[in-house]
Amino acid sequence: MAKYRIAWLPGDGIGNDVMEAARIVLDAIELDAEYPHGEIGWEFWVAEGDPLPERTIELLRNCDCALFGAITSKPKDEAANELSPELQGKGFIYRSPIVRLRQLFDLAVNLRPCKAFKGNPLNYRDDIDLVVFRENTEDLYSGVEFRPVPDELNDVLSRNNKNFERFADVPAGDMAISLRIITKSASERIIRAAFEYAKKHDYKTVTVVEKPNVIRETSGMMVETAREIAREFPGIELWETNIDAMCMWLVKNPQNYGVLVSSNMFGDIISDLCAQLVGGLGFAASGNIGKDLAVFEPTHGSAPKYAGKYKVNPTAMLITVKLMLDWLGEEKRAAALYEAIARVIAEGRIRTYDMGGSDSTLDMAHAVSDNVKSLL
Ligand code: IPM
Ligand code: MG
Repeated sequence: MAKYRIAWLPGDGIGNDVMEAARIVLDAIELDAEYPHGEIGWEFWVAEGDPLPERTIELLRNCDCALFGAITSKPKDEAANELSPELQGKGFIYRSPIVRLRQLFDLAVNLRPCKAFKGNPLNYRDDIDLVVFRENTEDLYSGVEFRPVPDELNDVLSRNNKNFERFADVPAGDMAISLRIITKSASERIIRAAFEYAKKHDYKTVTVVEKPNVIRETSGMMVETAREIAREFPGIELWETNIDAMCMWLVKNPQNYGVLVSSNMFGDIISDLCAQLVGGLGFAASGNIGKDLAVFEPTHGSAPKYAGKYKVNPTAMLITVKLMLDWLGEEKRAAALYEAIARVIAEGRIRTYDMGGSDSTLDMAHAVSDNVKSLL
């Protein structure tokens, strides 16, 4: 039996292209693992009304972790229109399978490092080393939403909150409510994870990115929690920055920041911004980390127009594999893989289209796999 069981979830679009790149590299480093295939994505939504079928959830229950490619997600009505005819009008509601996976398996920590590689022509600056910690299970992504707004809810809100008064007479169908739910325990978890990471990897600052001046209760609680937890970590400074200002500072002086921590939606936004600073989504890796399971995925989407063309940059996926190896405790292999990626980028002989070249996804994977062998 192999040492690790890693669920293999290519998903949609270019998911398969970059997973093939991942496999080339995993084979090169001879990880002792088996990779059972899991079905997830748009085709299962269309055919079964569920992009995350129960059998895939069951598979994940029996794996150490998962590697995930990419997913196509669409707004509710568009998704419903694409259901196969026999499923139309039966009340199936599309929800992003990756968001569901994060909630179902309580993958509370979304870790998204964005570090500039030497010699990457796409770097915004060469001295950027940011790590985003995004809370992964709550906030506006909780899925607690209303449209139309039920009368009972309208009543409760009218009675309990003066600020709701001006909405109380809006017809139920002309108003939509998405709740921003944030709990103390999830706030503690993500903030503690950010500080622990900063401590382990020698970052001097953790910046909590919220908006407590306006969103007083939820953002207020995040910032308050950050202050409490910061006391456990002398030597690491807590900086507090509002999300809007943070976007400005990240464009102005990204080199001044280290670890960033935020709630789900703000974390989603700043992680794309940070990714672009180090070359774009082709360089952005992530880990969705829970207590019993972790799902590793590149931050990019499924880029349907490139699907099967082996054109996209697999670097995000290869760094994602590195994050997975770290999590598995395979630090030596992880370090070698990262070094191999860095060398291939610095050498500059292989360049995918986003970097101005014409090499393929798999050319890049082979260059990294040739390189990594000499490092192990
Ligand atoms: C991400 C993506 C997802 C998210 C989408 C695909 C649901 O943007 O991982 O950042 O919003 O979390
Ligand atoms: Mg995103």
